[in-house]
Amino acid sequence: MEERIRAAVLTISTRSSAGEMKDTSGPALRGLAEREHWDVVYYNVIPDKKDLIASELAKICDEGAADVVFTLGGTGLAPSDVTPEATEMVIEQSVPGISETIRMNSLKKTNRAMLSRGVSGVRGNTLIINMPGSEKAVKESFEIVQPVIGHAVELIKGKVKDCGRTEEGH
Ligand code: MTE
Repeated sequence: MEERIRAAVLTISTRSSAGEMKDTSGPALRGLAEREHWDVVYYNVIPDKKDLIASELAKICDEGAADVVFTLGGTGLAPSDVTPEATEMVIEQSVPGISETIRMNSLKKTNRAMLSRGVSGVRGNTLIINMPGSEKAVKESFEIVQPVIGHAVELIKGKVKDCGRTEEGH
């Protein structure tokens, strides 16, 4: 039997973490992940603080508890948006194709997709993917990346021997 994917969800929003706004994006992503029969092993809401985001990401990855971490929010152009910078502080391998594809496919929904600076990368055995923060953006971004997560996780764990032959995608 295939191992279930272990996902962590980290909502990054100063207002939601202060209780001024309800986080609907995190629960939406949890629902989508569970629909795929993934285990959501971690969920937290933290403020837009670079060092805090970086240490939270490093902790999740270094504990080895999750295969993939989705960060939600803080990828835009506001002075408070620091998620990409925090992510770059902790990743060891950049995976630009994931973020490029989120932006490229999201442009079919909104031209504002070009305003998300999200990045993706690997730390240890964990893949980190930045997503824009609105519930709509999270749902759209998940549909874009979901088909490759299983293969990405197997690659990171060194389980893939012959990539071309195992290809199921298009
Ligand atoms: N991507 C998708 N798929 N759908 C969206 O609605 N919103 C955009 C963009 N990417 C959006 C999207 C908007 S309006 C902004 S400002 C940026 O993501 C950054 O969002 P963030 O600051 O919440 O991370």
